[in-house]
Amino acid sequence: MPYQDFREFLAVLREEGELIDIDRHIALEDVGKAMKHSYIKQGPALQFNDTGTTMPLVLGCYADRRKALLAFEATPETIFAKVLHGLDNPIPPVTIDRPAPCQEVVIRDNAVDVSKLPIPKYSPKDGGPYITPGIVVSHDPETGVPDIGHYRFLILGPNTMSFSAQPFHRFGKNLLKAQAMGIKPRAAVVIGCDPIHAYTCQVQVPDTVNDWTLAGGLRGAPVELVKCITNDVLVPATAELVIEFEVDMDDLVMEGPLGEYTGYYTPATPKPRATITAITHRINPIFQGLLTGKPVTENHILKQIPFEASVWKALKAQYPTIQNVSVRASAGVSFYVVISMTPRFAGEPRQVILSAIASNIRPKWVIIVEPDIDVHSSSEVEWAMAFRVQPQRDVMIVGDIPAGPSDPSIDEPSRPRPMRTASAIGIDATRPFGKPFSEVADVPGWEDFPMPELDR
Ligand SMILES: Cc1cc2nc3c(=O)[nH]c(=O)nc-3n(C[C@H](O)[C@H](O)[C@H](O)COP(=O)(O)O)c2cc1C
Repeated sequence: MPYQDFREFLAVLREEGELIDIDRHIALEDVGKAMKHSYIKQGPALQFNDTGTTMPLVLGCYADRRKALLAFEATPETIFAKVLHGLDNPIPPVTIDRPAPCQEVVIRDNAVDVSKLPIPKYSPKDGGPYITPGIVVSHDPETGVPDIGHYRFLILGPNTMSFSAQPFHRFGKNLLKAQAMGIKPRAAVVIGCDPIHAYTCQVQVPDTVNDWTLAGGLRGAPVELVKCITNDVLVPATAELVIEFEVDMDDLVMEGPLGEYTGYYTPATPKPRATITAITHRINPIFQGLLTGKPVTENHILKQIPFEASVWKALKAQYPTIQNVSVRASAGVSFYVVISMTPRFAGEPRQVILSAIASNIRPKWVIIVEPDIDVHSSSEVEWAMAFRVQPQRDVMIVGDIPAGPSDPSIDEPSRPRPMRTASAIGIDATRPFGKPFSEVADVPGWEDFPMPELDR
Protein backbone atom coordinates (compact mmCIF):
# COMPACT_ATOMS: atom_id res chain seq x y z
CA MET A 1 0.00 0.00 0.00
CA PRO A 2 1.50 3.37 -0.94
CA TYR A 3 1.96 6.03 1.72
CA GLN A 4 -1.03 8.36 1.91
CA ASP A 5 1.05 11.19 3.29
CA PHE A 6 4.30 12.21 4.95
CA ARG A 7 3.02 11.27 8.43
CA GLU A 8 2.52 7.65 7.46
CA PHE A 9 6.12 7.51 6.23
CA LEU A 10 7.39 9.13 9.43
CA ALA A 11 5.46 6.54 11.47
CA VAL A 12 7.18 3.72 9.57
CA LEU A 13 10.62 5.36 10.02
CA ARG A 14 9.88 5.63 13.77
CA GLU A 15 8.75 2.00 13.99
CA GLU A 16 11.94 0.85 12.27
CA GLY A 17 14.19 2.90 14.56
CA GLU A 18 15.03 5.20 11.64
CA LEU A 19 13.53 8.34 13.23
CA ILE A 20 13.86 9.66 16.76
CA ASP A 21 12.17 12.58 18.51
CA ILE A 22 14.20 15.23 20.25
CA ASP A 23 12.10 17.21 22.73
CA ARG A 24 14.77 19.49 24.21
CA HIS A 25 15.05 22.94 22.66
CA ILE A 26 17.41 23.34 19.68
CA ALA A 27 18.38 26.65 18.07
CA LEU A 28 17.75 26.68 14.30
CA GLU A 29 21.43 27.54 13.64
CA ASP A 30 22.49 24.34 15.46
CA VAL A 31 20.27 22.00 13.43
CA GLY A 32 22.95 21.55 10.73
CA LYS A 33 25.48 20.33 13.31
CA ALA A 34 23.03 17.86 14.82
CA MET A 35 22.13 16.51 11.40
CA LYS A 36 25.76 16.21 10.28
CA HIS A 37 26.41 14.19 13.44
CA SER A 38 23.65 11.79 12.49
CA TYR A 39 24.84 11.56 8.84
CA ILE A 40 28.38 10.67 9.98
CA LYS A 41 27.02 7.94 12.24
CA GLN A 42 24.56 6.79 9.55
CA GLY A 43 22.02 7.40 12.26
CA PRO A 44 18.29 8.06 12.36
CA ALA A 45 16.25 10.93 10.97
CA LEU A 46 15.71 13.59 13.64
CA GLN A 47 12.45 15.27 14.57
CA PHE A 48 13.02 18.41 16.64
CA ASN A 49 9.85 19.14 18.55
CA ASP A 50 11.03 22.42 20.11
CA THR A 51 12.64 24.82 17.65
CA GLY A 52 11.06 27.92 19.19
CA THR A 53 8.40 27.95 16.43
CA THR A 54 4.93 26.45 16.35
CA MET A 55 5.95 23.47 14.19
CA PRO A 56 8.20 20.44 14.63
CA LEU A 57 11.07 20.12 12.17
CA VAL A 58 12.10 16.72 10.77
CA LEU A 59 15.33 16.10 8.81
CA GLY A 60 17.24 13.12 7.47
CA CYS A 61 14.21 11.24 6.09
CA TYR A 62 16.18 10.23 2.96
CA ALA A 63 19.61 10.04 4.56
CA ASP A 64 20.64 6.50 3.62
CA ARG A 65 19.73 3.50 1.51
CA ARG A 66 17.75 1.84 4.37
CA LYS A 67 15.38 4.79 4.48
CA ALA A 68 15.14 4.81 0.66
CA LEU A 69 14.09 1.15 0.75
CA LEU A 70 11.39 2.00 3.32
CA ALA A 71 10.20 4.85 1.08
CA PHE A 72 9.86 2.49 -1.89
CA GLU A 73 8.61 -0.40 0.28
CA ALA A 74 11.29 -2.53 -1.36
CA THR A 75 14.30 -4.68 -0.51
CA PRO A 76 17.87 -4.37 -1.85
CA GLU A 77 16.99 -7.16 -4.28
CA THR A 78 13.66 -5.72 -5.54
CA ILE A 79 14.32 -1.97 -5.56
CA PHE A 80 15.76 -1.57 -9.06
CA ALA A 81 13.12 -3.71 -10.79
CA LYS A 82 10.36 -2.00 -8.78
CA VAL A 83 11.50 1.46 -9.86
CA LEU A 84 11.83 0.42 -13.51
CA HIS A 85 8.36 -1.19 -13.41
CA GLY A 86 6.89 2.01 -11.94
CA LEU A 87 8.52 4.19 -14.59
CA ASP A 88 7.23 1.90 -17.35
CA ASN A 89 3.66 2.00 -15.99
CA PRO A 90 2.72 5.63 -15.32
CA ILE A 91 -0.62 6.38 -13.63
CA PRO A 92 -2.30 9.78 -14.17
CA PRO A 93 -3.15 11.89 -11.10
CA VAL A 94 -6.68 12.73 -9.92
CA THR A 95 -7.81 16.20 -8.86
CA ILE A 96 -9.95 16.61 -5.76
CA ASP A 97 -12.11 19.55 -4.67
CA ARG A 98 -10.86 22.29 -2.35
CA PRO A 99 -10.31 22.49 0.52
CA ALA A 100 -7.90 19.58 0.84
CA PRO A 101 -6.03 18.64 4.03
CA CYS A 102 -3.07 20.79 2.93
CA GLN A 103 -5.45 23.78 2.97
CA GLU A 104 -6.90 23.31 6.47
CA VAL A 105 -5.16 26.57 7.42
CA VAL A 106 -4.82 29.37 4.86
CA ILE A 107 -2.57 32.41 5.42
CA ARG A 108 -2.71 35.19 2.83
CA ASP A 109 -1.67 38.73 2.10
CA ASN A 110 -0.21 40.69 5.03
CA ALA A 111 -0.56 37.72 7.37
CA VAL A 112 2.12 35.80 5.43
CA ASP A 113 5.33 35.56 7.46
CA VAL A 114 7.65 32.78 6.37
CA SER A 115 10.07 33.63 9.17
CA LYS A 116 7.63 31.93 11.57
CA LEU A 117 8.50 28.56 9.99
CA PRO A 118 11.36 26.44 11.40
CA ILE A 119 13.80 27.10 8.55
CA PRO A 120 17.45 26.57 9.57
CA LYS A 121 20.59 28.27 8.38
CA TYR A 122 22.62 25.11 7.74
CA SER A 123 26.30 25.89 6.98
CA PRO A 124 27.95 28.81 8.80
CA LYS A 125 28.52 30.91 5.67
CA ASP A 126 25.08 30.35 4.10
CA GLY A 127 23.39 33.58 3.05
CA GLY A 128 20.56 32.98 5.56
CA PRO A 129 17.87 30.42 6.35
CA TYR A 130 17.20 28.06 3.45
CA ILE A 131 14.30 25.82 2.51
CA THR A 132 16.21 22.86 0.99
CA PRO A 133 13.83 19.87 0.63
CA GLY A 134 10.98 21.86 -0.99
CA ILE A 135 9.40 20.37 -4.09
CA VAL A 136 8.58 23.05 -6.64
CA VAL A 137 5.53 22.42 -8.80
CA SER A 138 5.59 24.51 -11.95
CA HIS A 139 3.95 24.29 -15.36
CA ASP A 140 5.32 24.69 -18.86
CA PRO A 141 3.59 27.97 -19.79
CA GLU A 142 3.12 26.81 -23.38
CA THR A 143 1.98 23.20 -22.98
CA GLY A 144 0.70 23.27 -19.38
CA VAL A 145 2.70 20.11 -18.56
CA PRO A 146 3.51 20.06 -14.82
CA ASP A 147 7.00 19.46 -13.46
CA ILE A 148 8.16 18.65 -9.96
CA GLY A 149 11.74 19.20 -8.82
CA HIS A 150 13.76 20.18 -5.75
CA TYR A 151 14.88 23.81 -5.70
CA ARG A 152 16.39 25.71 -2.79
CA PHE A 153 14.89 28.94 -1.40
CA LEU A 154 16.67 31.62 0.61
CA ILE A 155 14.41 33.52 2.99
CA LEU A 156 14.79 37.28 2.52
CA GLY A 157 11.73 38.68 4.31
CA PRO A 158 8.22 37.82 5.55
CA ASN A 159 6.92 37.18 2.03
CA THR A 160 10.12 37.33 -0.03
CA MET A 161 12.49 34.59 -1.16
CA SER A 162 15.17 34.14 -3.78
CA PHE A 163 16.01 30.81 -5.34
CA SER A 164 18.25 29.01 -7.77
CA ALA A 165 16.85 27.24 -10.83
CA GLN A 166 19.51 25.96 -13.23
CA PRO A 167 18.56 26.79 -16.83
CA PHE A 168 18.76 23.11 -17.82
CA HIS A 169 16.32 22.01 -15.09
CA ARG A 170 12.65 22.14 -15.94
CA PHE A 171 11.61 24.85 -13.47
CA GLY A 172 14.43 26.99 -14.88
CA LYS A 173 13.23 26.30 -18.43
CA ASN A 174 9.60 27.07 -17.49
CA LEU A 175 10.67 30.41 -16.00
CA LEU A 176 12.64 31.45 -19.07
CA LYS A 177 9.81 30.43 -21.37
CA ALA A 178 7.26 32.39 -19.31
CA GLN A 179 9.55 35.42 -19.41
CA ALA A 180 9.83 35.17 -23.21
CA MET A 181 6.03 34.87 -23.45
CA GLY A 182 5.51 37.90 -21.18
CA ILE A 183 3.74 35.81 -18.49
CA LYS A 184 4.37 36.20 -14.74
CA PRO A 185 5.41 32.70 -13.56
CA ARG A 186 3.39 31.22 -10.67
CA ALA A 187 4.36 28.09 -8.80
CA ALA A 188 4.26 26.38 -5.41
CA VAL A 189 6.80 24.85 -3.00
CA VAL A 190 5.49 21.71 -1.33
CA ILE A 191 6.87 20.55 2.03
CA GLY A 192 6.24 17.10 3.52
CA CYS A 193 4.53 14.55 1.29
CA ASP A 194 4.66 10.90 0.22
CA PRO A 195 8.44 10.29 -0.07
CA ILE A 196 7.90 8.82 -3.54
CA HIS A 197 7.20 12.35 -4.78
CA ALA A 198 10.66 13.39 -3.59
CA TYR A 199 12.35 10.51 -5.40
CA THR A 200 10.23 11.19 -8.52
CA CYS A 201 11.66 14.72 -8.65
CA GLN A 202 15.05 13.22 -9.42
CA VAL A 203 13.95 10.96 -12.29
CA GLN A 204 15.33 12.38 -15.54
CA VAL A 205 12.66 12.46 -18.26
CA PRO A 206 11.87 14.62 -21.29
CA ASP A 207 10.17 17.97 -20.69
CA THR A 208 6.93 16.62 -22.16
CA VAL A 209 6.40 14.15 -19.30
CA ASN A 210 3.86 14.95 -16.58
CA ASP A 211 5.87 14.06 -13.46
CA TRP A 212 2.69 13.23 -11.49
CA THR A 213 2.10 10.26 -13.81
CA LEU A 214 5.57 8.96 -12.91
CA ALA A 215 4.91 9.44 -9.19
CA GLY A 216 1.63 7.51 -9.69
CA GLY A 217 3.47 4.68 -11.44
CA LEU A 218 6.16 4.53 -8.76
CA ARG A 219 3.62 4.43 -5.90
CA GLY A 220 1.22 2.14 -7.81
CA ALA A 221 -1.76 4.48 -7.27
CA PRO A 222 -2.80 7.91 -8.56
CA VAL A 223 -1.53 11.00 -6.75
CA GLU A 224 -4.39 13.14 -5.40
CA LEU A 225 -3.91 16.78 -6.32
CA VAL A 226 -5.74 19.97 -5.39
CA LYS A 227 -5.64 23.44 -6.91
CA CYS A 228 -3.71 26.10 -4.99
CA ILE A 229 -5.65 29.00 -3.43
CA THR A 230 -3.94 31.88 -5.29
CA ASN A 231 -2.93 30.22 -8.57
CA ASP A 232 -3.85 27.27 -10.82
CA VAL A 233 -0.96 25.01 -9.82
CA LEU A 234 -1.99 21.55 -8.61
CA VAL A 235 -0.27 20.25 -5.44
CA PRO A 236 -0.51 16.99 -3.43
CA ALA A 237 -3.70 17.20 -1.36
CA THR A 238 -2.17 15.73 1.79
CA ALA A 239 1.06 17.77 1.83
CA GLU A 240 2.03 19.19 5.20
CA LEU A 241 2.54 22.75 3.94
CA VAL A 242 2.42 24.61 0.62
CA ILE A 243 3.98 27.99 -0.20
CA GLU A 244 2.30 29.59 -3.23
CA PHE A 245 4.41 32.21 -4.98
CA GLU A 246 4.93 34.30 -8.08
CA VAL A 247 8.22 35.26 -9.69
CA ASP A 248 9.37 38.62 -10.93
CA MET A 249 12.05 37.69 -13.46
CA ASP A 250 13.26 41.28 -13.84
CA ASP A 251 13.51 42.08 -10.13
CA LEU A 252 16.84 40.56 -9.14
CA VAL A 253 17.89 39.99 -5.52
CA MET A 254 20.98 38.29 -4.12
CA GLU A 255 20.83 34.53 -3.58
CA GLY A 256 23.56 32.57 -1.77
CA PRO A 257 26.07 31.59 -0.61
CA LEU A 258 24.94 28.03 0.13
CA GLY A 259 26.99 25.01 1.18
CA GLU A 260 26.12 22.89 -1.85
CA TYR A 261 25.90 19.19 -2.73
CA THR A 262 29.45 19.44 -4.15
CA GLY A 263 30.79 20.06 -0.65
CA TYR A 264 31.66 23.66 -1.56
CA TYR A 265 29.91 26.98 -1.14
CA THR A 266 28.32 28.46 -4.22
CA PRO A 267 28.76 32.24 -4.13
CA ALA A 268 25.92 34.73 -3.90
CA THR A 269 24.63 35.95 -7.28
CA PRO A 270 21.61 37.99 -8.39
CA LYS A 271 18.49 35.86 -8.98
CA PRO A 272 14.78 36.58 -9.54
CA ARG A 273 12.60 37.55 -6.58
CA ALA A 274 9.84 35.19 -5.46
CA THR A 275 6.89 36.78 -3.67
CA ILE A 276 4.73 34.54 -1.52
CA THR A 277 1.00 34.88 -2.25
CA ALA A 278 -0.22 32.33 0.32
CA ILE A 279 0.92 29.70 2.79
CA THR A 280 -1.49 26.83 3.36
CA HIS A 281 -0.99 23.93 5.73
CA ARG A 282 -2.52 21.06 7.62
CA ILE A 283 -3.55 21.44 11.24
CA ASN A 284 -0.40 20.79 13.32
CA PRO A 285 1.91 20.59 10.29
CA ILE A 286 5.33 18.95 10.38
CA PHE A 287 8.00 21.01 8.61
CA GLN A 288 10.87 19.32 6.81
CA GLY A 289 14.55 20.25 6.54
CA LEU A 290 17.55 18.77 4.71
CA LEU A 291 21.24 19.40 5.24
CA THR A 292 23.15 19.36 2.00
CA GLY A 293 26.92 19.86 1.64
CA LYS A 294 29.96 17.59 1.52
CA PRO A 295 28.84 14.12 0.38
CA VAL A 296 27.25 11.92 1.56
CA THR A 297 24.06 13.73 2.60
CA GLU A 298 20.41 12.94 1.99
CA ASN A 299 20.57 15.14 -1.10
CA HIS A 300 22.87 12.51 -2.67
CA ILE A 301 20.84 9.52 -1.53
CA LEU A 302 17.68 11.12 -2.92
CA LYS A 303 19.25 11.30 -6.37
CA GLN A 304 21.01 7.95 -6.41
CA ILE A 305 18.25 5.42 -7.19
CA PRO A 306 16.35 7.68 -9.64
CA PHE A 307 19.59 8.60 -11.47
CA GLU A 308 20.65 4.96 -11.76
CA ALA A 309 17.23 4.03 -13.17
CA SER A 310 17.29 7.05 -15.52
CA VAL A 311 20.73 6.19 -16.96
CA TRP A 312 19.77 2.53 -17.33
CA LYS A 313 16.54 3.40 -19.16
CA ALA A 314 18.21 6.01 -21.37
CA LEU A 315 20.99 3.66 -22.53
CA LYS A 316 19.45 0.17 -22.43
CA ALA A 317 17.35 0.63 -25.58
CA GLN A 318 20.44 1.28 -27.70
CA TYR A 319 22.85 -0.96 -25.81
CA PRO A 320 20.87 -4.05 -24.76
CA THR A 321 23.82 -5.81 -23.14
CA ILE A 322 24.15 -3.16 -20.43
CA GLN A 323 23.68 -5.01 -17.18
CA ASN A 324 24.02 -2.60 -14.29
CA VAL A 325 24.57 1.06 -13.44
CA SER A 326 26.00 2.70 -10.34
CA VAL A 327 26.17 6.41 -9.63
CA ARG A 328 28.30 7.34 -6.66
CA ALA A 329 26.78 9.33 -3.81
CA SER A 330 30.30 10.17 -2.63
CA ALA A 331 31.05 11.84 -5.99
CA GLY A 332 27.98 14.05 -6.01
CA VAL A 333 25.93 11.36 -7.83
CA SER A 334 25.82 12.77 -11.33
CA PHE A 335 29.57 13.27 -11.60
CA TYR A 336 30.65 9.61 -11.52
CA VAL A 337 28.93 6.72 -13.28
CA VAL A 338 30.00 3.08 -13.54
CA ILE A 339 28.26 0.91 -16.14
CA SER A 340 28.67 -2.83 -16.65
CA MET A 341 28.05 -4.39 -20.05
CA THR A 342 29.08 -7.21 -22.37
CA PRO A 343 30.51 -5.45 -25.45
CA ARG A 344 29.06 -6.88 -28.67
CA PHE A 345 31.76 -5.43 -30.92
CA ALA A 346 34.99 -3.48 -30.70
CA GLY A 347 34.47 0.15 -29.69
CA GLU A 348 30.98 -0.30 -28.24
CA PRO A 349 32.08 0.70 -24.70
CA ARG A 350 33.32 3.99 -26.14
CA GLN A 351 29.90 4.56 -27.72
CA VAL A 352 28.29 3.97 -24.32
CA ILE A 353 30.71 6.46 -22.74
CA LEU A 354 29.74 9.11 -25.29
CA SER A 355 26.02 8.43 -24.87
CA ALA A 356 26.32 8.63 -21.06
CA ILE A 357 28.24 11.90 -21.27
CA ALA A 358 25.56 13.27 -23.59
CA SER A 359 22.66 12.09 -21.39
CA ASN A 360 20.74 14.44 -19.12
CA ILE A 361 22.80 13.23 -16.13
CA ARG A 362 25.90 14.69 -17.84
CA PRO A 363 28.54 12.80 -15.81
CA LYS A 364 32.13 13.96 -15.63
CA TRP A 365 33.51 10.42 -15.09
CA VAL A 366 32.17 7.35 -16.93
CA ILE A 367 33.73 3.93 -16.36
CA ILE A 368 32.66 0.89 -18.35
CA VAL A 369 33.34 -2.55 -16.89
CA GLU A 370 32.30 -6.08 -17.77
CA PRO A 371 29.51 -7.84 -15.85
CA ASP A 372 31.96 -9.85 -13.69
CA ILE A 373 32.75 -6.57 -11.93
CA ASP A 374 30.25 -5.42 -9.28
CA VAL A 375 29.54 -1.82 -10.29
CA HIS A 376 28.65 -0.91 -6.70
CA SER A 377 31.99 -2.14 -5.31
CA SER A 378 34.77 0.47 -5.38
CA SER A 379 37.46 -2.20 -4.90
CA GLU A 380 36.24 -4.28 -7.85
CA VAL A 381 36.05 -1.21 -10.10
CA GLU A 382 39.56 -0.18 -9.03
CA TRP A 383 40.80 -3.71 -9.80
CA ALA A 384 39.40 -3.38 -13.33
CA MET A 385 40.94 0.07 -13.72
CA ALA A 386 44.31 -1.20 -12.51
CA PHE A 387 44.63 -4.30 -14.68
CA ARG A 388 42.27 -4.00 -17.66
CA VAL A 389 43.07 -0.42 -18.64
CA GLN A 390 45.93 0.97 -20.67
CA PRO A 391 45.40 4.72 -20.25
CA GLN A 392 46.82 5.69 -23.63
CA ARG A 393 44.43 3.27 -25.35
CA ASP A 394 41.37 3.23 -23.09
CA VAL A 395 40.86 6.75 -21.82
CA MET A 396 38.96 9.38 -23.77
CA ILE A 397 38.44 13.01 -22.86
CA VAL A 398 35.67 15.13 -24.31
CA GLY A 399 36.10 18.88 -23.98
CA ASP A 400 33.95 22.01 -24.21
CA ILE A 401 30.70 20.47 -23.08
CA PRO A 402 28.27 22.11 -20.60
CA ALA A 403 29.64 22.02 -17.05
CA GLY A 404 27.92 19.99 -14.34
CA PRO A 405 25.90 22.07 -11.90
CA SER A 406 28.04 24.09 -9.47
CA ASP A 407 31.30 22.30 -10.35
CA PRO A 408 33.98 24.39 -8.58
CA SER A 409 36.84 22.86 -10.60
CA ILE A 410 36.00 24.47 -13.95
CA ASP A 411 37.90 27.50 -15.23
CA GLU A 412 36.21 30.67 -14.04
CA PRO A 413 33.30 29.04 -12.16
CA SER A 414 31.75 32.47 -11.63
CA ARG A 415 30.98 32.89 -15.35
CA PRO A 416 27.23 33.12 -16.12
CA ARG A 417 25.74 29.61 -16.19
CA PRO A 418 25.13 29.33 -19.94
CA MET A 419 28.83 30.14 -20.48
CA ARG A 420 30.22 27.42 -18.18
CA THR A 421 31.92 24.62 -20.05
CA ALA A 422 33.89 21.64 -18.81
CA SER A 423 35.42 18.36 -19.93
CA ALA A 424 34.43 14.76 -19.21
CA ILE A 425 36.47 11.58 -19.08
CA GLY A 426 35.53 8.06 -20.11
CA ILE A 427 37.49 4.94 -19.18
CA ASP A 428 36.93 1.69 -21.03
CA ALA A 429 37.85 -0.85 -18.34
CA THR A 430 36.62 -3.81 -20.36
CA ARG A 431 39.17 -6.27 -21.75
CA PRO A 432 40.13 -5.67 -25.41
CA PHE A 433 37.33 -7.05 -27.58
CA GLY A 434 38.02 -10.35 -29.36
CA LYS A 435 41.63 -10.59 -28.18
CA PRO A 436 43.18 -13.10 -25.76
CA PHE A 437 43.63 -11.82 -22.19
CA SER A 438 45.20 -13.35 -19.08
CA GLU A 439 42.96 -15.72 -17.14
CA VAL A 440 41.41 -14.44 -13.91
CA ALA A 441 43.08 -16.12 -10.94
CA ASP A 442 40.52 -16.60 -8.20
CA VAL A 443 39.64 -19.37 -5.76
CA PRO A 444 36.25 -20.74 -6.83
CA GLY A 445 34.12 -22.68 -4.36
CA TRP A 446 35.13 -20.63 -1.29
CA GLU A 447 31.49 -19.76 -0.50
CA ASP A 448 30.60 -23.43 0.04
CA PHE A 449 33.78 -24.44 1.83
CA PRO A 450 32.89 -24.87 5.55
CA MET A 451 34.84 -22.48 7.81
CA PRO A 452 32.85 -22.40 11.08
CA GLU A 453 35.72 -20.54 12.76
CA LEU A 454 34.79 -17.52 10.67
CA ASP A 455 31.06 -17.55 11.52
CA ARG A 456 30.56 -14.76 14.01
C1 LIG B 1 17.68 18.41 -2.11
C2 LIG B 1 17.92 18.90 -3.50
C3 LIG B 1 18.00 20.26 -3.76
C4 LIG B 1 18.20 20.72 -5.06
N1 LIG B 1 18.24 22.07 -5.29
C5 LIG B 1 18.34 22.53 -6.56
C6 LIG B 1 18.31 23.93 -6.82
O1 LIG B 1 18.24 24.77 -5.91
N2 LIG B 1 18.38 24.34 -8.12
C7 LIG B 1 18.47 23.45 -9.16
O2 LIG B 1 18.48 23.87 -10.31
N3 LIG B 1 18.53 22.10 -8.93
C8 LIG B 1 18.45 21.64 -7.66
N4 LIG B 1 18.48 20.30 -7.41
C9 LIG B 1 18.61 19.38 -8.55
C10 LIG B 1 17.28 19.18 -9.24
O3 LIG B 1 16.23 19.07 -8.31
C11 LIG B 1 17.29 17.88 -10.03
O4 LIG B 1 18.29 17.85 -10.95
C12 LIG B 1 15.98 17.56 -10.67
O5 LIG B 1 16.13 16.42 -11.46
C13 LIG B 1 15.41 18.67 -11.50
O6 LIG B 1 14.17 18.23 -11.94
P1 LIG B 1 13.35 18.97 -13.06
O7 LIG B 1 14.30 19.33 -14.18
O8 LIG B 1 12.34 17.95 -13.47
O9 LIG B 1 12.71 20.17 -12.41
C14 LIG B 1 18.32 19.80 -6.12
C15 LIG B 1 18.26 18.44 -5.85
C16 LIG B 1 18.07 17.98 -4.56
C17 LIG B 1 17.98 16.50 -4.30
